[in-house]
Amino acid sequence: MMKSLKRAAITSVGHYLPPDIYDNKFFESYLDTSDQWIRERTGIQERRVLKQGGTSDMAVPAIEMCLNRRGITAEEIECIVVATVTPDMLFPSTSSLIQGKIGAKNAWGFDLEAACSSFLYALNVATRLIESGAHTKVLVVGADKMTAITDYQDRNTCVLFGDGAGAVLLEPIEDESLGLIDFDLKTDSTCGKFLYMPAGGSLLPPSIETVTNRQHYVIQDGKTVFKSAVPGMADAAESMMRRNNLSPDDIRWLVPHQANLRIISATAERMGLPMEKVMVNIHKYGNTTSATLPICLSEWWEQGLLDKGDGVVLVTFGAGYTYGGGYIKWAY
Ligand code: COA
Repeated sequence: MMKSLKRAAITSVGHYLPPDIYDNKFFESYLDTSDQWIRERTGIQERRVLKQGGTSDMAVPAIEMCLNRRGITAEEIECIVVATVTPDMLFPSTSSLIQGKIGAKNAWGFDLEAACSSFLYALNVATRLIESGAHTKVLVVGADKMTAITDYQDRNTCVLFGDGAGAVLLEPIEDESLGLIDFDLKTDSTCGKFLYMPAGGSLLPPSIETVTNRQHYVIQDGKTVFKSAVPGMADAAESMMRRNNLSPDDIRWLVPHQANLRIISATAERMGLPMEKVMVNIHKYGNTTSATLPICLSEWWEQGLLDKGDGVVLVTFGAGYTYGGGYIKWAY
């Protein structure tokens, strides 16, 4: 039977952050770095650390918060899209593991990996699953245990990352003026070599050499990535404004990927937005990769700072490079 096509909307949000904290003093105790350097260069003060378990163990409480807030059970979920670069294992997918753990016995699902842009890519795909009429309840989860792939001997990268998870529920809505309105996503593979994890895949399977050479960790040429990330995020934001005829007054919140406070500020400046309109929690959690955007949405909603009709622009930038933007008129 042909189903009617509808706009998709986020109808609930949830998040989870593990309780253990590494503050900047932790790094001062054994690395040639300082609290002042980390704060000034990144904006980060502390990050959360999952001491036991895998990415799915953070995703589950984030999803439970999301479902409880909506007042529905896991059995009503039809599909689970998991954005992550740190799956519990290569297979089964983290989506499969989560499906079992939450008891979503009527759901199928899959993992999607696009580095720090994974959540926005996944949100776009899930939007199409709703708009096509294929599904009416889709979970999009962004979760990463970055401490599992962070080299704590490399001061260039280890201060940047933390662990966390966020989840959003997508459903069709009647009001065409609200919901997930636009996406503009990009990939530029010419710069892949500046941010990557060399080993553990089919090209360089795990071996004594890959472990000895510390190739199972994030490797980043920070300065080079920074130089691309600033225009990349700002271009993505400008594109959202141009494509949707938005002035700064039309935007209640910019939700940027939380990689570096200086990149976030430069993006807001290019958009003509004051920092009061920008969701920032990088000081508390660092870069949680796939989880940064949904954690922001859930925390701001929890504080009563997201209202029906609000214009929300999401922007992201990550390895690949992958980058892009999304435009939402908040629906609940
Ligand atoms: N503590 C103290 N000094 C450090 C340091 C640390 N934790 N990390 C690097 N440094 C040093 C560098 O070695 C360098 O020293 P040198 O001049 O003697 O070589 C100096 O600080 C400046 O390094 P630089 O890389 O120029 O710093 P930066 O201002 O670019 O900041 C990053 C470094 C990583 C914070 C920044 O480049 C960044 O955020 N990059 C992009 C991250 C990103 O967006 N990633 C994509 C999404 S995941």
